[in-house]
Amino acid sequence: MAFQARLNSPLAPVILFIALSIAAADYSPRYACDTNKNPSLKNYVFCNTSLDIKTRVSDLLKQMTLQEKAGSIVSVADSIPRLGIPSYGWWSEALHGVSDTGPATWFNASVIPGATSFPQVILTAASFNESLFNTIGKVVSTEARAMYNMGVAGLTFWSPNVNIFRDPRWGRGQETPGEDPILTSKFGVAYVKGLQEREDHDKERLKVGACCKHYTAYDLDNWNNVNRFRFDAFVTKQDMEDSYNPPFKSCVLEGNVASVMCSYNQVNGKPTCADRELLEDVVRGEWKLNGYISSDCDSLRVMFEVQRWAKTPEQVAADALNAGLDLNCGDWLRKFTTLAVKKGLVKQPVVDRAVTNSFTTLMRLGFFDGHPSNQLYGYLGKKDVCTRAHQDLAREAARQGTVLLKNSFRSLPLRKTSIKSLAVIGPNANATRAMIGNYAGVPCKYTSPLNGLSRYVKTTYEQGCDVMCESTARFQHVKDAVGRADAVPMTNMKMRPDPTKGQPGQTYRFYIGRPVFPFGFGLSYSSYHYKLIKAPNLISIPSNQTHTHYSSTCNTIDAADSVCANLHFDLDIMVTNAGKMSGSHTVLLFSSPPMIYNAPKKELVDFKKVWLAPMKHSVVRFSVDICKRLRVVDEDGNHKVAMGQYVLEVGDIKHYISLKG
Ligand SMILES: *[C@@H]1O[C@H](CO)[C@@H](O)[C@H](O)[C@H]1NC(C)=O
Ligand SMILES: *[C@@H]1O[C@H](CO)[C@@H](O)[C@H](O)[C@H]1NC(C)=O
Ligand SMILES: *[C@@H]1O[C@H](CO)[C@@H](O)[C@H](O)[C@H]1NC(C)=O
Ligand SMILES: *[C@@H]1O[C@H](CO)[C@@H](O)[C@H](O)[C@H]1NC(C)=O
Ligand SMILES: *[C@@H]1O[C@H](CO)[C@@H](O)[C@H](O)[C@H]1NC(C)=O
Repeated sequence: MAFQARLNSPLAPVILFIALSIAAADYSPRYACDTNKNPSLKNYVFCNTSLDIKTRVSDLLKQMTLQEKAGSIVSVADSIPRLGIPSYGWWSEALHGVSDTGPATWFNASVIPGATSFPQVILTAASFNESLFNTIGKVVSTEARAMYNMGVAGLTFWSPNVNIFRDPRWGRGQETPGEDPILTSKFGVAYVKGLQEREDHDKERLKVGACCKHYTAYDLDNWNNVNRFRFDAFVTKQDMEDSYNPPFKSCVLEGNVASVMCSYNQVNGKPTCADRELLEDVVRGEWKLNGYISSDCDSLRVMFEVQRWAKTPEQVAADALNAGLDLNCGDWLRKFTTLAVKKGLVKQPVVDRAVTNSFTTLMRLGFFDGHPSNQLYGYLGKKDVCTRAHQDLAREAARQGTVLLKNSFRSLPLRKTSIKSLAVIGPNANATRAMIGNYAGVPCKYTSPLNGLSRYVKTTYEQGCDVMCESTARFQHVKDAVGRADAVPMTNMKMRPDPTKGQPGQTYRFYIGRPVFPFGFGLSYSSYHYKLIKAPNLISIPSNQTHTHYSSTCNTIDAADSVCANLHFDLDIMVTNAGKMSGSHTVLLFSSPPMIYNAPKKELVDFKKVWLAPMKHSVVRFSVDICKRLRVVDEDGNHKVAMGQYVLEVGDIKHYISLKG
């Protein structure tokens, strides 16, 4: 099938013959329950596709020895030939397109040479377009599934990264949707659904498996001799609930993500992958993850060798399993699980839970249903990767996410008709690989900025300067200068400002200094006007005496109280494109809550994206769930709704709304 395009050439019969013989030999996916090769597998309940997944997984577990179980919950799972189960590579990545970062997915000139590469997530997120996030996820999962069918990809992709981008010095902020919990949550949910949801709406089954990582409070790789392996993040309950955890919670509760990955770092003195409260109690207990919890790669070795978490390797394995870990990127659990059970450090049912959660995911992906050609996505192949439509969407994403920060003399947009030649200057003007970002795959093709511009107009190109700092001669001066400066320690995870300690607060929600560009800033070629059409001034909450907390600043109620169910109001804004060009425009709704619990001074509540032709208008409705969107978090991490005045802002409109008990 992959060679159809060449059938017109005189060599077609020869090429087709070669293609088919390679196809038969190599272009084959990995899957279990190959009843053609081994008819006796038909008798196994776990291979019977007419039974429900729970029954099948529990049958599979009954057939397995303890060591076979231990060998299944590592990144390259052992094969179990007697049960017709091939080795499976759990680790694939698809942050902004199918990537070959994990060992289970690769590109190869004769099979699949490349996949569609989308912009880095920080840029896509800046489009504030939820349907775009979702559509990208769908395209990526289509290409991933096609690659799986060709035998060059897995089915479980450890993306997206939904860590809050707390500090610009991290160096990995580009992988994330940014600093805001609402935008990050919405990106995560839409992208995960795009990756996982099937066209037949079968909720039990998955197109591919996604994974929200790195749980949690992980946003330091290497700073001032503290690296991610050694870092112990001190995080208050308030910041955890208010900033670090919301994207993970949304991933699980709204996105139904198939996996959460715990991070390398420790949180409040415990490695996240050995923290029962974080994994078993919160992710599985409170949020009810339907899937598996994975470790980051080699986390367990790091726990033993770097963090010196336990005295023996088997104790580390036991602690992680007992905390709720189901899968270990690395091979620690293969090596030490059996010993941990023998020594009584972990009980068999705990190991069974881990294998059950992991294999349930693989079963939901169709791995145990025989050859994928008989399944919903079995028709996907090479022709479905790097299609024109997919590449157009990547370009569309780049267009939508690009933010115009400055337009001196209104020189942009460039006019194709009046510009006859263009000087393109800069060290990255002709860059290809440098522009593609980390966690990339091999793209379908490269287009450098110079390339792109040259298609429209005559260009001359000057590099101007080097990109690389090729000499370290001046580094000592830099170190000295940094040493003399007051810059804030990156290890301080506290979001809230503390002027007595020189801490100005982190992310736009808390930072008290003057930002270079405020969150959500962006210029347009057109101009947009807002008019408030409808919004309440006063909302009475049917207060429940037992759940109302009285304080001198303002009274609050529990956001979990039953009075909160369905407590909504609508805010309607008329948006008019008053300029001469049509365009897409983002409408951002911010809220400033009453002064209590050091709540954010201003934070995003919701956003909408509208397209408007010149002089046209449209009414944008925000339907605000009061207890979800206007909630504040107290010092103990409880969600509260404060009685008092909230200021809602959309552009230059300020609307005051009072909540009364
Ligand atoms: C598969 O399960 C169905 C439903 O229980 C049963 O009718 C069928 O006989 C089973 N198939 C095999 C090959 O055992
Ligand atoms: C590409 O993959 C095919 C099929 O697995 C294999 O036969 C071939 O050697 C690979 N080519 C390269 C350059 O790796
Ligand atoms: C959002 O993105 C989609 C592509 O998925 C596009 O069709 C739509 O026009 C965009 N919305 C706006 C308002 O630009
Ligand atoms: C731009 O880079 C390509 C290789 O990626 C090279 O072939 C081309 O000559 C470069 N163009 C200029 C003007 O340097
Ligand atoms: C008030 O709270 C109590 C205790 O949680 C609960 O039983 C009751 O249903 C609540 N009443 C209303 C009107 O929500």
